[in-house]
Amino acid sequence: MSSLWSLRWLWVYLLIGQFAISNVKTAWPTSDSTNIQLLGIFGNGLNMNDSTPGTLWSRAMFNAAMLLSQQYNITIDGQFIGSQLVASGGITMNALSSSCLLISTSNIVGIVGPTFSRETQVIAPFAAQLSVPVVSYSATDPGLSDRGAYPTFYRTVPSDTTAALTIAQLFMKFNWTSSIIIYQNDAYGSDGAKVITDAFNNNNLTITQMIMFDIVARTIRGDLKALLLSSPMRNVILWAETDYASLILQEAIDCDVLGPQFIWILSSTVQLNSFSQADNAKLIGILTIEPVVASAVNEPTNTTLLNAAYDVWQQYEPETFPGTENVNAYALFTFDATWLLIRSLEQLCSITNNHSSPCLSIVNDSFCFNRRLLDSSSLFDIINNNTFLGVSGLVQFSANSTDRVSGIYYIVKNIQSLSNELNYVPVLVWSSSDAWTPHSQQNTIIWPGQSLVAPTGYATIAGVILRIAVIEAPPFTMTQQVADANGIITTKLIGYIPDLLAILQTNMGFIPNITFLPANQSYDGLIDDVANNVYDIVAGDVTIIAARREKVSFTDSIYDNSLRIIVRNTASASPNFWFYLRPFSMGVRLCILGSIILSALLMYLFERKANETLRHRSIISGIVMSTWYPLGTIMGFGVDYTVRTGAGRFLTFSVFFLSLVLIATYQATLTSSLTLKQTQNIISGIDDIKNGKIPYGRIGILTNSSIEAYYLQEISNGIRNFYPLKTEGAIFTSLLSKVIDAAIMDEGVLEYETNSIYCNLTLVGTGFDPSAFGIVFQKNWVYEQVLDVNILSLRESGTFDDLKSKWFQANTCSQTSDTSTSSSIEVMTGLFVTFAVMCGLSLIFFIWLKLLPIRRRLLQTVLNLHYRVCPSARTPPDSPLDVQNPFDIRDI
Ligand SMILES: *[C@@H]1O[C@H](CO)[C@@H](O)[C@H](O)[C@H]1NC(C)=O
Ligand SMILES: *[C@@H]1O[C@H](CO)[C@@H](O)[C@H](O)[C@H]1NC(C)=O
Ligand SMILES: *[C@@H]1O[C@H](CO)[C@@H](O)[C@H](O)[C@H]1NC(C)=O
Ligand SMILES: *[C@@H]1O[C@H](CO)[C@@H](O)[C@H](O)[C@H]1NC(C)=O
Ligand SMILES: *[C@@H]1O[C@H](CO)[C@@H](O)[C@H](O)[C@H]1NC(C)=O
Ligand SMILES: *[C@@H]1O[C@H](CO)[C@@H](O)[C@H](O)[C@H]1NC(C)=O
Ligand SMILES: *[C@@H]1O[C@H](CO)[C@@H](O)[C@H](O)[C@H]1NC(C)=O
Ligand SMILES: *[C@@H]1O[C@H](CO)[C@@H](O)[C@H](O)[C@H]1NC(C)=O
Ligand SMILES: *[C@@H]1O[C@H](CO)[C@@H](O)[C@H](O)[C@H]1NC(C)=O
Repeated sequence: MSSLWSLRWLWVYLLIGQFAISNVKTAWPTSDSTNIQLLGIFGNGLNMNDSTPGTLWSRAMFNAAMLLSQQYNITIDGQFIGSQLVASGGITMNALSSSCLLISTSNIVGIVGPTFSRETQVIAPFAAQLSVPVVSYSATDPGLSDRGAYPTFYRTVPSDTTAALTIAQLFMKFNWTSSIIIYQNDAYGSDGAKVITDAFNNNNLTITQMIMFDIVARTIRGDLKALLLSSPMRNVILWAETDYASLILQEAIDCDVLGPQFIWILSSTVQLNSFSQADNAKLIGILTIEPVVASAVNEPTNTTLLNAAYDVWQQYEPETFPGTENVNAYALFTFDATWLLIRSLEQLCSITNNHSSPCLSIVNDSFCFNRRLLDSSSLFDIINNNTFLGVSGLVQFSANSTDRVSGIYYIVKNIQSLSNELNYVPVLVWSSSDAWTPHSQQNTIIWPGQSLVAPTGYATIAGVILRIAVIEAPPFTMTQQVADANGIITTKLIGYIPDLLAILQTNMGFIPNITFLPANQSYDGLIDDVANNVYDIVAGDVTIIAARREKVSFTDSIYDNSLRIIVRNTASASPNFWFYLRPFSMGVRLCILGSIILSALLMYLFERKANETLRHRSIISGIVMSTWYPLGTIMGFGVDYTVRTGAGRFLTFSVFFLSLVLIATYQATLTSSLTLKQTQNIISGIDDIKNGKIPYGRIGILTNSSIEAYYLQEISNGIRNFYPLKTEGAIFTSLLSKVIDAAIMDEGVLEYETNSIYCNLTLVGTGFDPSAFGIVFQKNWVYEQVLDVNILSLRESGTFDDLKSKWFQANTCSQTSDTSTSSSIEVMTGLFVTFAVMCGLSLIFFIWLKLLPIRRRLLQTVLNLHYRVCPSARTPPDSPLDVQNPFDIRDI
């Protein structure tokens, strides 16, 4: 972080009691006698008393790198590389003047540092003037990435642009959509807040609120508690240096806006033992995001080099060595910054050194601004091309940016309580290839409130008492008397809305305080009540319209509505294209068809031989001719051939009988159904109302409702000429008592009422003016998102459809006229059974006649037998057994 170590060293130092490192004497060997030197610019004093551990570690790693270069026998023109140190105290002009002083008198060919972005903004152009490379290890300001403005600048710490990207990706990982930022009001804070906002915008995330921490007054601008609680978001990004972050966290503890309600994400590690132990519970779940070295991500680093550096450090300054686990990333970035310069110088001189001239030459001048490193472009080429495995990972640069192009990693640590003590536990790591992945230790994230479930980022409504108003409007909200086990009768709310509220309550965990309002409640008045904080939400058949949106907010649609017209039920059968088929039901029609086919087949069977018309025809043609017979008979127009057999005549009689009854029934039913149709509905849809087909005074409109608004706008041009109705119930009573002829109302309500209660009323026309019902709540309500998300997920899961079919599609009115006017198969069964019996009889008669010759032969055989046994009874064989039968086939 650009100002990770602030100006207020002493204050921080006192906070950090655990590092009792006062009065340690520095024992690094001086090497300022050598010709070629590197300059290290560090934030604070060179003695231990006023230094933070972080600075000491960075400086120790700088010194270790310098000593290592000597151990590795790296020489320039035969001499070891030396070093100089500057303590800027964090003051830019100190850094500049001290550097200038040293540069005037020594051959400085590279600068490591400075610590702060604001110093870098001055030192980097100064070094560019001298053609000397500057490599910073902790200046993260995104503005410093500009190669054009800072031609000789490099940094081994990633830019805050990347930090902002990682924060945005962290939000996406947890499906958080927006956040509040608290930032300190200096370049680091404002630039950081700016790049985070940019990164959020690029990823469809939003910053809902920016809260400024004044580093001079050391306070939050505004009331932290009020600012945070009034926001619907529960994510807070704290972009501030360690010491300011501690101050802000303390204030947050005092006004109780940390866990479990809020999830804080810090950009720096604060010392946890600076807070009271009693507040530990509130701090659990805080996340920190910081740059980290490759080893944390299990990417390779040069451990040989690192161990060698630690060995040197422990050899010369063991008092400040915190243990290999505790050295922070910035110390390693310092080492790599120094090592980059050392390696590049070594490489430059190994190429150019031909032992006849020094590989580096400097224009000598006592005025520091006039000094110049000659032929430095090859040095920058080498730095740009120099790729090596450092102690923080792969170090690599490109010509067009000052930032390192590889070896960029971040870590998220989570404050957790281990054996009653708070600790930072690494949970997630970021690399440019994998974004956020779990840390190798596989620690689970403990969220605020000791929860294991990632928060939604929205204000949680669980446990909050909501004042909910519902309005009587069947079937949205109705009452029902229920008796409990003790026989005590209580009134219970049932319907679409109570069911929906129960589902929402289960999903969201709020505590409802429901007020049941009578049906004569004005809907617009309710909107005002919500705006005036009488109720938190209103749930019911409240239409979302623009005029209401000006005062309150609505959720997404909880019911898709349209308007319908209701009238008295004058016609039970609507005009139908197939009206002439209606007198007979489908069963009857099929039976008639069956009868015709049966009688045609029988006719063909009976008449095939006897009838001239049929005898010479093929089977198909004969059957068709036979079909003609019953058809003609039923229709009553007669047939152009006559039957010749007794069975045929009997069949004709059956068909005639069938025809008699069918035609009488058909005529009677058709007449009655046509008479009914004369009494048409007075109107057929909204256009008839617009065209004034019924007097305006006989149209009922619910006052103070969205329907009134529709009527005034679309039908009457603002004139209140309708019949005003106070309640929904009045619509039905007024229609039945013929006070009004038609009314306009929401489709859902009308469908329910006409299907289940008012069977004598009916809907005409199709739905018009589609609209949606939404739950009403105050503008900028804290729980807006969480309610919206829940409503949307109910919509996606089809819950609304289930509720709709449960409450709206109940149908207790009997079905319409279709069955009552047409003669069903049950009614006509007797007729067809009679016909079938008659057909059967005619068939038997036919068979009996067919069997006549056989019968005769049989009788002859019996007689012959008889004569043989008893010859006296003999009669002549051709004697008249052949009696003329009246039903003989040749009979006419
Ligand atoms: C460091 O502080 C100690 C006492 O706190 C003091 O004796 C010592 O002189 C100080 N050293 C420096 C270099 O200021
Ligand atoms: C450096 O040089 C010295 C003396 O010339 C030699 O003893 C030592 O082994 C060398 N070290 C390395 C790492 O080459
Ligand atoms: C984020 O949303 C996606 C898709 O909706 C889901 O698969 C994933 O589990 C969610 N992640 C978290 C942490 O809730
Ligand atoms: C942001 O949203 C827009 C429109 O909703 C979409 O086209 C775009 O891809 C989204 N961008 C990201 C990074 O999700
Ligand atoms: C580590 O650094 C040293 C010195 O620069 C080098 O000799 C060695 O090859 C490096 N090791 C790896 C694994 O890159
Ligand atoms: C060595 O350097 C001198 C002066 O720069 C140059 O004239 C000479 O050619 C160089 N020799 C080699 C072998 O590069
Ligand atoms: C550095 O790389 C560039 C392009 O990759 C090349 O033109 C240049 O010669 C290289 N410089 C050195 C010193 O290797
Ligand atoms: C910088 O150079 C790298 C490769 O050297 C290239 O991928 C990148 O697009 C360049 N960036 C700009 C801003 O030119
Ligand atoms: C419910 O709200 C009413 C007023 O709207 C209030 O009088 C009552 O105390 C509330 N009940 C609970 C349990 O909060």
